[in-house]
Amino acid sequence: MPVYVFDAYGTLFDVHAAIARHRDAVGPDADRLSELWRMKQLEYTWTLTLAGRFVDFWTLTERALDYALARVPSVDPAMRARLLDAYRALDAYPDAREALRGLKARGKRTAILSNGTLPMLAGAVEAAAIGTHLDAVLSVEAVRLYKPRPEVYGLVIDTFATAPADVVFVSSNRWDVMGAAAVGFRPVWINRSGLPEEYHDLAPIRVLHSLASLLDTPV
Ligand code: LAC
Repeated sequence: MPVYVFDAYGTLFDVHAAIARHRDAVGPDADRLSELWRMKQLEYTWTLTLAGRFVDFWTLTERALDYALARVPSVDPAMRARLLDAYRALDAYPDAREALRGLKARGKRTAILSNGTLPMLAGAVEAAAIGTHLDAVLSVEAVRLYKPRPEVYGLVIDTFATAPADVVFVSSNRWDVMGAAAVGFRPVWINRSGLPEEYHDLAPIRVLHSLASLLDTPV
């Protein structure tokens, strides 16, 4: 019986929703600020992991926003607190709850595996009201390494005592799909915006345009 494991940020939760909620107050450079915020947040996870360091994901989220605000001076720095508050309760994608509910109704086990801290994930899960559809919420904090280190994906194996080939790993981050493929999971790439393929030798088993499609796609 496969376990369905979901990435959190970008896959279940819309990382650009924090800015979207305050788009008028942020102003015309809102999209640039949001892209920079996300890219720096991820860059810090990769560079620190390569350097043998660990700083929690909430702190990196704050540091990335500070950098983005410094690079986009048209945005009032006083927006910082409101944007961070919005990040704590990001909107889930509209089909996230239905996909999880449907998988549970079909008897599947489900989990989140994320870079996020446990308090961040608890806040997002509560805001999206998806807690009852999840068997586990796993954070990289348990190994103090970030994705795509194999030890992170190993948390799923330890938790569910299952073979890698029985893990369906769902992510909209193509580099995260790469990491999951590298440890022998069956990755599904949620490519909502038609991004080009990359990491060709570590490919997803399916490419879908929405989480809802998971319910009628054999894996
Ligand atoms: C996560 C990152 C990829 O949720 O956003 O693990």
